[in-house]
Amino acid sequence: MAAARDQERPARIHLKVDTGLGRNGVALDAWDQLLGEAMEYQDQGLLRVVGIFSHLSVADEPERPETDEQLAAFREVLAVAEDAGVDPEVRHLANTPATLSRPDTHFDLVRVGLGIYGLSPFEAQTSAELGLRPAMTLRTLVSQCKQVPDRQGVSYGLRYRTSGPSTLALIPLGYADGVPRVATGGPVRVAGRTYPVVGRIAMDQMVIDLGNIGPAVRTSSAPRRCCSGTGTTAGPRQTTGRWPPARTTTRS
Ligand SMILES: Cc1ncc(COP(=O)(O)O)c(C=O)c1O
Repeated sequence: MAAARDQERPARIHLKVDTGLGRNGVALDAWDQLLGEAMEYQDQGLLRVVGIFSHLSVADEPERPETDEQLAAFREVLAVAEDAGVDPEVRHLANTPATLSRPDTHFDLVRVGLGIYGLSPFEAQTSAELGLRPAMTLRTLVSQCKQVPDRQGVSYGLRYRTSGPSTLALIPLGYADGVPRVATGGPVRVAGRTYPVVGRIAMDQMVIDLGNIGPAVRTSSAPRRCCSGTGTTAGPRQTTGRWPPARTTTRS
């Protein structure tokens, strides 16, 4: 309010109510009080309530009942606001999964996060099935390629062993770069082919097994382009969405 006074113009604000997520927003039983205070400031010309919103907790699990409960609570909140004379420009509730599956939650605008990255919020549907295109590409250069013998252990714990003479490629990305530490198995593309990460992901490095591709790569000193989680093109290059399953199914 001090800033609005200084600027001599009303702050445009969106009131947030917690309809069940248990995170930001005022609790339902404090909604009346917040509205009252907001209206007082609005009457003084210090603010204008332009929006009322809430955030969903389980819309990515369509079979759960909580989305309907939150929607009912949000409608109630809007009715109370209307009775109090609040006339917001926009009401908003839907996140990515609700935008894709629940038109009844759309109100005046939707707030899409995950979907902008082209990722599917649903376990049972891929990005491609939803018509979403992964928007991120993480690129780096292979920092080392070397031939190793059969049964070579890889990375901390030696949880992975080669099943024959093979070539290992070192990717200079790790959990310090945002790759989940437990994402062993995640797809990395090198020179047009996709390989899973093998062994534990370290702070700044991870390893892929190129298989028995022979001495051509072993003797090559030129770094090769590779990318992890490509997304700008469709088809088999769409690997971004495959990282989360790798994360949840790994046992390393
Ligand atoms: C308030 C709010 N709205 C929208 C979103 C986007 O959610 P989603 O990534 O499911 O689209 C978030 C994400 O955390 C959020 O906090």
